[in-house]
Amino acid sequence: MKTIWQQAFIRWTLGLVVSFTIGILIGKLFMCLFLFVLFGLCSNLYQLYQFHSWVRRLGKASPPEASGIWGDVFDAVYRLQKKQRKSKKRMRRALSRIENSTSALKEGVIMADNLGNLEWWNASAGQFLGLMKPVDRGQPVTNIVRNPEFFRYFTQKRFSEPLVIKSPSQEGIYLEIQTTLYDQNDHLIFVRDVTRLHLLEQMRKDFVANASHELKTPLTVIKGYLETLDMFKDSLPKSMQKGVDNMTTQSNRMEQLIEDLLLLSRLESNDKRDIDQWHDINELVNNVVDSVQAIGTKHTIHIVIRSECRLYGSYRELYSAFSNLVVNAIKYSPDGGNITIKWENHLDEGIFSVSDEGLGIEARYIPRLTERFFRVDKGRGSNTGGTGLGLAIVKHVLLHHDAKLLITSQPGQGSVFSCHFSGKRIQQPLAHKEQ
Ligand SMILES: Nc1ncnc2c1ncn2[C@@H]1O[C@H](COP(=O)(O)OP(=O)(O)O)[C@@H](O)[C@H]1O
Ligand SMILES: [Mg+2]
Repeated sequence: MKTIWQQAFIRWTLGLVVSFTIGILIGKLFMCLFLFVLFGLCSNLYQLYQFHSWVRRLGKASPPEASGIWGDVFDAVYRLQKKQRKSKKRMRRALSRIENSTSALKEGVIMADNLGNLEWWNASAGQFLGLMKPVDRGQPVTNIVRNPEFFRYFTQKRFSEPLVIKSPSQEGIYLEIQTTLYDQNDHLIFVRDVTRLHLLEQMRKDFVANASHELKTPLTVIKGYLETLDMFKDSLPKSMQKGVDNMTTQSNRMEQLIEDLLLLSRLESNDKRDIDQWHDINELVNNVVDSVQAIGTKHTIHIVIRSECRLYGSYRELYSAFSNLVVNAIKYSPDGGNITIKWENHLDEGIFSVSDEGLGIEARYIPRLTERFFRVDKGRGSNTGGTGLGLAIVKHVLLHHDAKLLITSQPGQGSVFSCHFSGKRIQQPLAHKEQ
């Protein structure tokens, strides 16, 4: 490159010297110099014209013949174009490979911008959700997938858990939707057919609900006879009396188990839910404590509720969650222990908590407490008459109320079970008194 510029410099200097000499010789120095500059300008303009027309033809033909600097410029641009064309081809090939592999995917993949407008999707996603190219491109995904649950999931960005919905375009198909945010909050949506899993899960739920329901009738008959036997207990031999007592305890436990199983299956099927309403926390908590005390307890229960808050939800569900926590505190702490039931208002949440000074739980068991039938000590459960379903019920109820359960515990020192409700479900005293 250096030599090209050197050559050009020599050529121009020589031209200048020659025109200067001729100008001096013929006595027309300025005209000669002017002609030399004019020649230089015209030849450069001509090369520029050649370059322009070649570039306008998108450089498809080979570059025009030129020497010197212009020749080098043409060559450099030509080389650059060839390189670019090659990498474009490579990228196109890679892109079509990606497109081919994603269209072979059974899972649906959708890309939407940060506002949820559809940008791209593969064939499976199109089939699952009835998306049509190119009409649906650029449309908000919530306009195409018209499902209230999906609308809530997408607009409230509840992407931590996958969502299962019915396919809007295919009858009897259930889809699991999982969304990830990437880049500048753009959406990457995966859609999976989970019909088989969903039906199996449905079958399991139906089975548990039906079995529990069917067990109720024979148990009622058994309990009826046991009550009759109990009335004539004194005339029975001593060994029989003990048997009747035992049978009564066990049948009560069985009844509780069936009730809990039925409640859990009702909680699992969203369609059988109660209507949510505003409830006075004071009243709700006092009702729970009254019913627990009615059974007879040797514990001291402190209720600490400083404001007259209201909580939005299902009375029945909240009642059973709160009473499960209170009953646990009583069951798993020694007689005479203190139990504190508290309601606290924080900035953006309301917390219901039950603390006891009882047995406590080892840290390794805490994550498993809400599993069905999980008990820290199996023997302890049967002695206390527990079903192992209480905390599973609490978890489900809280799920329905956009709340979460936090457990802190120290073995031998007691436990705190707290339910954290979001501010949207809480009404402060002033707000509801104004109504
Ligand atoms: N307040 C508590 N203190 C100590 N352990 C508890 C407490 N609450 C629950 N647990 C433990 O968690 C297990 C599950 O509780 P839950 O689901 O209510 O079933 P259960 O019918 O056994 O009470 C209990 O068996 C017990 O081991
Ligand atoms: Mg319990």
